[in-house]
Amino acid sequence: MDPSQDRPGGRTEAGFGGVEDVRGRLGATGYLADDATATVVHLAGRLGKPVLVEGPAGVGKTELAKAVATALDADLVRLQCYEGLDEARALYEWDYKKQLLRIQHATAGERDAGWEDVHDDLFGEAYLLERPLLRALRAERDTVLLVDEVDKVDVEFEALLLEILSDFQVTIPELGTVRGRRPPFVVLTSNATRELSEALRRRCLYLHLEYPTIERERAIVTARVPDAPAALTDQVVRVVRSLRALELRKPPSISETLDWTRALIELGVQHVDEAAMSATLAVLLKHHRDLERAMGHLGAVTRPDAAPRSEAS
Ligand SMILES: Nc1ncnc2c1ncn2[C@@H]1O[C@H](COP(=O)(O)OP(=O)(O)OP(=O)(O)O)[C@@H](O)[C@H]1O
Ligand SMILES: [Mg+2]
Repeated sequence: MDPSQDRPGGRTEAGFGGVEDVRGRLGATGYLADDATATVVHLAGRLGKPVLVEGPAGVGKTELAKAVATALDADLVRLQCYEGLDEARALYEWDYKKQLLRIQHATAGERDAGWEDVHDDLFGEAYLLERPLLRALRAERDTVLLVDEVDKVDVEFEALLLEILSDFQVTIPELGTVRGRRPPFVVLTSNATRELSEALRRRCLYLHLEYPTIERERAIVTARVPDAPAALTDQVVRVVRSLRALELRKPPSISETLDWTRALIELGVQHVDEAAMSATLAVLLKHHRDLERAMGHLGAVTRPDAAPRSEAS
Protein backbone atom coordinates (compact mmCIF):
# COMPACT_ATOMS: atom_id res chain seq x y z
CA MET A 1 0.00 0.00 0.00
CA ASP A 2 1.20 3.48 -0.69
CA PRO A 3 2.18 4.85 2.74
CA SER A 4 1.29 8.36 1.64
CA GLN A 5 -2.34 7.27 1.69
CA ASP A 6 -2.20 7.13 5.49
CA ARG A 7 -2.26 10.88 5.65
CA PRO A 8 -3.86 13.09 3.07
CA GLY A 9 -1.04 14.93 1.38
CA GLY A 10 1.61 13.07 3.38
CA ARG A 11 4.90 12.20 1.73
CA THR A 12 6.86 9.39 3.21
CA GLU A 13 8.65 7.20 0.68
CA ALA A 14 11.66 9.14 -0.53
CA GLY A 15 11.43 11.94 2.03
CA PHE A 16 13.94 13.07 4.60
CA GLY A 17 14.73 10.85 7.55
CA GLY A 18 14.75 13.51 10.27
CA VAL A 19 16.03 16.98 11.07
CA GLU A 20 19.70 15.95 10.96
CA ASP A 21 19.13 14.13 7.68
CA VAL A 22 17.63 17.32 6.21
CA ARG A 23 20.60 19.36 7.41
CA GLY A 24 23.09 16.83 6.08
CA ARG A 25 21.46 16.40 2.68
CA LEU A 26 20.87 20.11 2.15
CA GLY A 27 24.47 20.70 3.28
CA ALA A 28 25.67 18.24 0.65
CA THR A 29 24.06 20.45 -2.02
CA GLY A 30 25.88 23.50 -0.60
CA TYR A 31 22.86 24.88 1.28
CA LEU A 32 23.60 25.40 4.94
CA ALA A 33 20.37 25.26 6.91
CA ASP A 34 19.96 26.51 10.45
CA ASP A 35 17.91 24.61 13.05
CA ALA A 36 14.63 26.33 12.21
CA THR A 37 15.00 25.69 8.48
CA ALA A 38 15.95 22.03 8.86
CA THR A 39 13.06 21.45 11.27
CA VAL A 40 10.46 23.11 9.06
CA VAL A 41 11.63 21.22 5.97
CA HIS A 42 11.50 17.94 7.87
CA LEU A 43 8.00 18.64 9.20
CA ALA A 44 6.74 19.82 5.83
CA GLY A 45 7.77 16.49 4.36
CA ARG A 46 6.18 14.47 7.12
CA LEU A 47 2.95 16.44 7.38
CA GLY A 48 2.56 17.07 3.67
CA LYS A 49 2.25 20.81 4.14
CA PRO A 50 3.63 23.62 2.01
CA VAL A 51 6.39 25.81 3.45
CA LEU A 52 5.91 29.57 3.30
CA VAL A 53 9.33 31.23 3.43
CA GLU A 54 9.48 34.93 4.14
CA GLY A 55 12.39 37.27 4.62
CA PRO A 56 14.42 40.02 2.99
CA ALA A 57 15.93 39.70 -0.49
CA GLY A 58 18.85 37.36 -0.99
CA VAL A 59 18.69 35.33 2.21
CA GLY A 60 18.18 31.97 0.53
CA LYS A 61 14.41 31.59 0.10
CA THR A 62 14.42 30.48 -3.54
CA GLU A 63 17.63 28.55 -3.08
CA LEU A 64 16.02 26.51 -0.31
CA ALA A 65 13.47 25.07 -2.75
CA LYS A 66 16.23 24.27 -5.25
CA ALA A 67 18.31 22.62 -2.54
CA VAL A 68 15.35 20.51 -1.35
CA ALA A 69 14.77 19.35 -4.93
CA THR A 70 18.41 18.39 -5.37
CA ALA A 71 18.54 16.69 -1.97
CA LEU A 72 15.42 14.63 -2.73
CA ASP A 73 16.50 13.97 -6.30
CA ALA A 74 13.16 15.47 -7.28
CA ASP A 75 12.18 17.59 -10.26
CA LEU A 76 11.86 21.30 -9.59
CA VAL A 77 8.81 23.01 -11.07
CA ARG A 78 8.94 26.76 -10.67
CA LEU A 79 6.05 29.16 -10.87
CA GLN A 80 7.44 32.69 -10.95
CA CYS A 81 4.70 34.99 -9.69
CA TYR A 82 3.98 38.48 -10.95
CA GLU A 83 1.15 40.95 -10.81
CA GLY A 84 -1.61 39.84 -13.16
CA LEU A 85 -0.56 36.18 -13.22
CA ASP A 86 -3.66 34.19 -14.09
CA GLU A 87 -4.90 30.64 -14.33
CA ALA A 88 -4.00 30.37 -18.01
CA ARG A 89 -0.33 31.09 -17.27
CA ALA A 90 -0.14 29.21 -13.99
CA LEU A 91 -2.40 26.17 -14.35
CA TYR A 92 -3.41 25.29 -17.91
CA GLU A 93 -4.83 26.67 -21.08
CA TRP A 94 -6.25 25.19 -24.26
CA ASP A 95 -4.15 25.53 -27.36
CA TYR A 96 -6.58 27.69 -29.35
CA LYS A 97 -4.47 27.81 -32.51
CA LYS A 98 -4.24 24.05 -32.65
CA GLN A 99 -7.94 23.70 -31.89
CA LEU A 100 -8.78 26.10 -34.70
CA LEU A 101 -6.66 24.13 -37.14
CA ARG A 102 -8.42 20.94 -36.04
CA ILE A 103 -11.82 22.53 -36.68
CA GLN A 104 -10.72 23.79 -40.09
CA HIS A 105 -9.38 20.37 -40.93
CA ALA A 106 -12.64 18.77 -39.82
CA THR A 107 -14.83 21.13 -41.81
CA ALA A 108 -12.60 20.84 -44.89
CA GLY A 109 -11.97 17.10 -45.08
CA GLU A 110 -13.96 14.95 -42.71
CA ARG A 111 -17.37 16.21 -43.68
CA ASP A 112 -18.90 13.22 -41.98
CA ALA A 113 -17.18 13.70 -38.71
CA GLY A 114 -19.75 14.43 -36.07
CA TRP A 115 -19.40 17.62 -34.05
CA GLU A 116 -19.41 15.52 -30.87
CA ASP A 117 -16.25 13.67 -31.98
CA VAL A 118 -14.50 16.86 -32.95
CA HIS A 119 -15.50 18.53 -29.70
CA ASP A 120 -14.22 15.63 -27.59
CA ASP A 121 -11.02 15.70 -29.54
CA LEU A 122 -10.57 19.42 -29.12
CA PHE A 123 -10.61 19.17 -25.34
CA GLY A 124 -8.28 16.21 -25.10
CA GLU A 125 -4.73 15.88 -23.88
CA ALA A 126 -3.24 16.84 -27.27
CA TYR A 127 -4.69 20.36 -27.04
CA LEU A 128 -3.86 21.00 -23.40
CA LEU A 129 -1.07 23.41 -22.56
CA GLU A 130 0.20 22.39 -19.18
CA ARG A 131 1.50 25.22 -16.98
CA PRO A 132 3.64 24.85 -13.83
CA LEU A 133 0.87 24.17 -11.28
CA LEU A 134 -0.73 21.45 -13.39
CA ARG A 135 2.66 19.99 -14.25
CA ALA A 136 3.52 19.71 -10.55
CA LEU A 137 0.12 18.22 -9.67
CA ARG A 138 0.30 15.56 -12.38
CA ALA A 139 3.97 14.71 -11.96
CA GLU A 140 4.83 11.05 -11.87
CA ARG A 141 8.28 11.71 -10.42
CA ASP A 142 8.92 13.33 -7.01
CA THR A 143 8.50 17.03 -7.49
CA VAL A 144 9.27 20.21 -5.61
CA LEU A 145 6.89 23.00 -6.58
CA LEU A 146 8.38 26.44 -6.04
CA VAL A 147 5.81 29.23 -6.04
CA ASP A 148 8.29 32.07 -6.07
CA GLU A 149 7.41 35.58 -4.83
CA VAL A 150 3.79 34.74 -4.09
CA ASP A 151 3.26 38.20 -2.58
CA LYS A 152 3.25 39.59 -6.14
CA VAL A 153 0.01 37.86 -7.21
CA ASP A 154 -3.51 39.30 -6.88
CA VAL A 155 -5.95 38.18 -4.22
CA GLU A 156 -8.02 36.24 -6.79
CA PHE A 157 -5.03 34.18 -7.78
CA GLU A 158 -4.23 33.54 -4.13
CA ALA A 159 -7.68 31.94 -3.84
CA LEU A 160 -6.84 29.54 -6.65
CA LEU A 161 -3.57 28.64 -4.95
CA LEU A 162 -5.40 28.01 -1.72
CA GLU A 163 -7.75 25.63 -3.43
CA ILE A 164 -4.91 23.70 -5.01
CA LEU A 165 -2.77 23.62 -1.90
CA SER A 166 -5.58 22.36 0.29
CA ASP A 167 -6.03 19.02 -1.46
CA PHE A 168 -3.31 18.94 -4.14
CA GLN A 169 -5.75 18.33 -6.93
CA VAL A 170 -7.60 20.37 -9.49
CA THR A 171 -10.69 19.81 -11.56
CA ILE A 172 -10.54 20.69 -15.23
CA PRO A 173 -14.13 20.77 -16.48
CA GLU A 174 -13.31 18.96 -19.72
CA LEU A 175 -10.88 16.43 -18.26
CA GLY A 176 -12.10 15.75 -14.74
CA THR A 177 -10.16 15.74 -11.49
CA VAL A 178 -6.42 15.68 -11.84
CA ARG A 179 -3.93 14.55 -9.24
CA GLY A 180 -0.52 12.96 -9.40
CA ARG A 181 1.01 9.89 -7.91
CA ARG A 182 2.18 11.89 -4.95
CA PRO A 183 1.63 15.50 -3.85
CA PRO A 184 4.57 17.78 -4.60
CA PHE A 185 6.74 19.28 -1.86
CA VAL A 186 5.64 22.90 -2.05
CA VAL A 187 7.74 25.94 -1.18
CA LEU A 188 6.19 29.41 -1.41
CA THR A 189 8.47 32.42 -1.05
CA SER A 190 7.52 35.98 -0.20
CA ASN A 191 9.30 39.28 0.31
CA ALA A 192 6.21 40.50 2.15
CA THR A 193 5.49 43.33 -0.30
CA ARG A 194 1.82 42.46 0.27
CA GLU A 195 0.19 40.83 3.28
CA LEU A 196 -0.82 37.29 2.39
CA SER A 197 -4.22 36.06 3.51
CA GLU A 198 -4.58 34.30 6.83
CA ALA A 199 -6.18 31.39 4.99
CA LEU A 200 -3.05 30.86 2.89
CA ARG A 201 -0.78 31.18 5.92
CA ARG A 202 -2.89 28.64 7.77
CA ARG A 203 -2.30 26.03 5.05
CA CYS A 204 1.45 26.39 5.36
CA LEU A 205 4.31 25.88 7.77
CA TYR A 206 6.01 29.22 8.24
CA LEU A 207 9.72 29.93 8.00
CA HIS A 208 11.23 33.35 8.45
CA LEU A 209 14.74 33.65 7.05
CA GLU A 210 16.96 36.49 8.19
CA TYR A 211 20.53 37.49 7.46
CA PRO A 212 22.68 34.67 8.81
CA THR A 213 24.91 34.85 11.85
CA ILE A 214 28.58 35.54 11.20
CA GLU A 215 29.44 31.86 11.72
CA ARG A 216 26.85 30.63 9.25
CA GLU A 217 27.67 33.24 6.65
CA ARG A 218 31.34 32.30 6.96
CA ALA A 219 30.39 28.67 6.41
CA ILE A 220 28.21 29.62 3.41
CA VAL A 221 31.06 31.58 1.82
CA THR A 222 33.43 28.68 2.46
CA ALA A 223 30.97 26.27 0.83
CA ARG A 224 30.14 28.46 -2.17
CA VAL A 225 33.55 30.06 -2.80
CA PRO A 226 35.95 27.31 -1.74
CA ASP A 227 39.05 29.09 -3.07
CA ALA A 228 38.54 32.05 -0.70
CA PRO A 229 41.34 32.20 1.92
CA ALA A 230 39.96 31.76 5.45
CA ALA A 231 41.30 35.12 6.66
CA LEU A 232 39.65 36.95 3.76
CA THR A 233 36.34 35.12 4.31
CA ASP A 234 36.44 36.04 7.95
CA GLN A 235 37.01 39.70 7.13
CA VAL A 236 34.37 39.75 4.41
CA VAL A 237 31.59 38.45 6.64
CA ARG A 238 32.46 40.89 9.42
CA VAL A 239 32.53 43.88 7.07
CA VAL A 240 29.19 42.81 5.58
CA ARG A 241 27.73 42.44 9.06
CA SER A 242 28.86 46.01 9.92
CA LEU A 243 27.34 47.35 6.72
CA ARG A 244 24.02 45.70 7.60
CA ALA A 245 24.06 47.59 10.86
CA LEU A 246 24.08 50.93 8.98
CA GLU A 247 20.65 52.13 8.06
CA LEU A 248 20.74 51.28 4.38
CA ARG A 249 17.95 51.15 1.86
CA LYS A 250 19.07 47.71 0.72
CA PRO A 251 21.53 46.01 3.06
CA PRO A 252 23.89 43.53 1.37
CA SER A 253 22.41 40.02 1.16
CA ILE A 254 24.13 36.64 1.07
CA SER A 255 24.26 36.84 -2.74
CA GLU A 256 26.17 40.09 -2.47
CA THR A 257 28.54 38.66 0.14
CA LEU A 258 29.34 35.85 -2.28
CA ASP A 259 29.74 38.21 -5.25
CA TRP A 260 31.99 40.48 -3.22
CA THR A 261 34.19 37.59 -2.10
CA ARG A 262 34.56 36.47 -5.73
CA ALA A 263 35.33 40.05 -6.80
CA LEU A 264 38.03 40.45 -4.15
CA ILE A 265 39.65 37.17 -5.20
CA GLU A 266 39.47 38.23 -8.85
CA LEU A 267 41.27 41.47 -7.99
CA GLY A 268 43.90 39.65 -5.92
CA VAL A 269 42.87 41.34 -2.67
CA GLN A 270 44.18 39.47 0.37
CA HIS A 271 43.14 41.96 2.98
CA VAL A 272 40.23 44.38 2.81
CA ASP A 273 41.42 47.90 3.58
CA GLU A 274 39.69 51.18 2.86
CA ALA A 275 41.11 51.38 -0.68
CA ALA A 276 39.97 47.87 -1.63
CA MET A 277 36.66 48.55 -0.01
CA SER A 278 35.92 51.77 -1.87
CA ALA A 279 37.01 50.17 -5.17
CA THR A 280 34.59 47.27 -4.79
CA LEU A 281 31.74 48.67 -2.72
CA ALA A 282 29.44 48.76 -5.74
CA VAL A 283 29.39 44.95 -5.73
CA LEU A 284 27.78 45.08 -2.29
CA LEU A 285 25.54 48.13 -2.46
CA LYS A 286 23.28 49.03 -5.35
CA HIS A 287 21.82 52.38 -4.33
CA HIS A 288 23.67 55.65 -4.62
CA ARG A 289 22.55 56.81 -1.19
CA ASP A 290 23.69 53.53 0.40
CA LEU A 291 27.09 53.88 -1.29
CA GLU A 292 27.51 57.41 0.02
CA ARG A 293 26.52 56.36 3.48
CA ALA A 294 28.91 53.41 3.51
CA MET A 295 31.74 55.57 2.15
CA GLY A 296 31.31 57.74 5.20
CA HIS A 297 31.86 54.71 7.44
CA LEU A 298 34.69 52.94 5.60
CA GLY A 299 37.12 53.31 8.49
CA ALA A 300 34.64 51.90 10.97
CA VAL A 301 33.47 48.92 8.93
CA THR A 302 36.96 47.73 7.95
CA ARG A 303 38.35 47.89 11.52
CA PRO A 304 39.30 44.38 12.69
CA ASP A 305 36.83 44.65 15.57
CA ALA A 306 34.08 46.01 13.29
CA ALA A 307 31.73 43.17 14.12
CA PRO A 308 31.96 40.63 16.90
CA ARG A 309 33.99 37.57 15.99
CA SER A 310 31.37 35.22 17.28
CA GLU A 311 27.77 35.41 18.33
CA ALA A 312 24.96 33.13 19.31
CA SER A 313 22.54 32.11 16.57
N1 LIG B 1 21.74 28.87 3.64
C1 LIG B 1 22.44 29.05 2.53
N2 LIG B 1 23.43 28.20 2.20
C2 LIG B 1 24.14 28.39 1.07
N3 LIG B 1 23.95 29.40 0.20
C3 LIG B 1 22.99 30.27 0.48
C4 LIG B 1 22.19 30.14 1.64
N4 LIG B 1 21.30 31.15 1.66
C5 LIG B 1 21.53 31.87 0.56
N5 LIG B 1 22.55 31.35 -0.16
C6 LIG B 1 23.11 31.92 -1.38
O1 LIG B 1 22.52 33.18 -1.57
C7 LIG B 1 22.03 33.31 -2.91
C8 LIG B 1 20.74 34.07 -2.85
O2 LIG B 1 19.73 33.27 -2.38
P1 LIG B 1 18.26 33.31 -3.01
O3 LIG B 1 18.30 33.65 -4.44
O4 LIG B 1 17.61 32.05 -2.60
O5 LIG B 1 17.65 34.53 -2.21
P2 LIG B 1 16.12 34.94 -2.04
O6 LIG B 1 15.88 34.96 -0.58
O7 LIG B 1 15.27 34.06 -2.89
O8 LIG B 1 16.17 36.42 -2.59
P3 LIG B 1 15.04 37.25 -3.39
O9 LIG B 1 14.04 37.65 -2.36
O10 LIG B 1 15.82 38.41 -3.93
O11 LIG B 1 14.50 36.35 -4.45
C9 LIG B 1 21.87 31.90 -3.42
O12 LIG B 1 22.21 31.80 -4.76
C10 LIG B 1 22.85 31.10 -2.61
O13 LIG B 1 24.07 31.00 -3.31
MG1 LIG C 1 14.13 34.48 -4.59
